[in-house]
Parts: sequence; C-alpha cells; structure tokens
Amino acid sequence: MILDAQKIVKNFGGLTAVNRVTLQVDAGEIVGLIGPNGAGKTTFLNSVAGTYKPSAGKVTFMGDDTTGAVAEVMCRKGLSRTFQIPLPFPRLTALENVMVGARFGANHASRKPARERAKEALDFVEFPLDIDTPAEQLNAVQLKRLDLARALACGPKLMFLDELASGLTPGELDDMMALILRIRETTGVGMIVVEHIMKVITGICERVLVIQYGTPIAKGTPEEVMGNPQVIEAYLGEEIVADED
Ligand SMILES: Nc1ncnc2c1ncn2[C@@H]1O[C@H](COP(=O)(O)OP(=O)(O)O)[C@@H](O)[C@H]1O
Ligand SMILES: [Mg+2]
Repeated sequence: MILDAQKIVKNFGGLTAVNRVTLQVDAGEIVGLIGPNGAGKTTFLNSVAGTYKPSAGKVTFMGDDTTGAVAEVMCRKGLSRTFQIPLPFPRLTALENVMVGARFGANHASRKPARERAKEALDFVEFPLDIDTPAEQLNAVQLKRLDLARALACGPKLMFLDELASGLTPGELDDMMALILRIRETTGVGMIVVEHIMKVITGICERVLVIQYGTPIAKGTPEEVMGNPQVIEAYLGEEIVADED
C-alpha cells in the first residue's frame, strides 16, 4: 500500500469540510473520489498532500507517517497532483513550467536532465502546442495538459487528479481517459481521481469512495455506488451523473 489515509478530519472554523474520511491506495490502483459540489473532495486531497494540516487523522505515505507534512516534502517523497484550477507560472514557457516539476519533485534532476525529462512528459501527454509557448497563452484545456505533464515530471509514486477532465469535449474526454490509463501502465503509479463526469469514473476506476458533507456515504465498484439510493439522492439537483454521450 502506498497511501493509507485514516479518519481524516479538516475543520474550517465551525465548518467540518472533511469528516473522518479513510482511503487507501495501492501501487497501480486508480481510486475514484466523488461527491456533490462542496462535498470536501478537494479539501481531502489538500489535507493529505500538505496544502492543509488535517485537524485529525493519520496519513501514512510510502510507509512513513506523513501526517501534517508540508506540500514540498510530500512532493519530494513522490506525491504529485494536478489542480482543479491550474496556476502555472504565466511568464514561463510550457517547457519551463514542467521543468519546475522535474527539478523540485521526487526526481530532483539537475538542469539538463530536467529539461529532457520535461520534454518527455510534454510528449507523453501529447501537449498540443509548441513547448516554448508562454503559459499565459494557453486555454483551459491546454493548461490541464500542462499541469498533468508537470505532475508527471515530478516522478510520482502517487498522483491526485482533481477534476482533470472537466470542460473537455466527449472526444477529448476519451483521449484523457486513455492517457490516464497509459500513465498508470507506464509508471505503475497509484491515483486518486476526483471527477464529476461519471463516464470517467466508470471507465478508469477500480474502486470509488463517495462523500457528502465531508462524510463517506458509500464505497465499492463504480457500478455498485452508482446504483446506491443514498448516492443517487446525494446527487439530486446536480446536472451531472449520466454519461456525456
Ligand atoms: N480554505 C477554506 N476555508 C474555508 N472553507 C473552505 C476552504 N476550502 C474549502 N472550504 C469549504 O469546504 C467545503 C468543501 O469544499 P471543497 O473541498 O472545495 O469541495 P469539493 O472539492 O468537493 O467541491 C465547502 O463548503 C467549502 O466552501
Ligand atoms: Mg473540488
């Protein structure tokens, strides 16, 4: 097991955004984390990845207790993530942005190897533009690919993908799913995938955890949780759930 997050709690003042969420990931496994808007998915990822210190609970990553460890420590230890809203360095080129991952991630490559590694990562994600394009010129979809390349260049053992597929057309969605599976096959990383588009969850995840108001309400295979009345109820009023095509 590469990640064992036990009973994670995150409070913001009086609000409990994450309430005793337990989730484990094995090498090579893709685990889905779903729930309605505001359920606490991103906050859970943040509480494990070192953006926030959890209010309670225990995180074991690569066999070590990493509870409360800051993001750069987690990254160097092999946890890479993409962000719901990517924030690249706008004036740096695509290549330079990905080099940051290669330099300061788990690889800690020196400048020249970092450049090679960054090129490989951009190639792997089939980055659609010239790699010397400044990041500020990228559209939302291109930014997501760039963010994925940066996370990959870090040399992860575990990846968190936070709504990577949102905003994609059905064709782009299929490409993204194939790419995620290719990353798993090539690198053997484990992943937690947060996704609103159920087609992605059913297409790539072995297991799914559903949370609502920060609290786990169901877990199982994608088929099992999607048929669970409590899950259907939780999603009422949201515009998603069904397949896109
Ligand atoms: N930094 C923060 N400070 C205060 N409240 C926050 C913060 N981040 C998230 N929240 C709140 O925590 C809840 C869960 O948010 P979030 O984890 O972003 O949900 P999700 O990713 O499932 O849509 C929401 O009610 C949100 O407003
Ligand atoms: Mg979120």
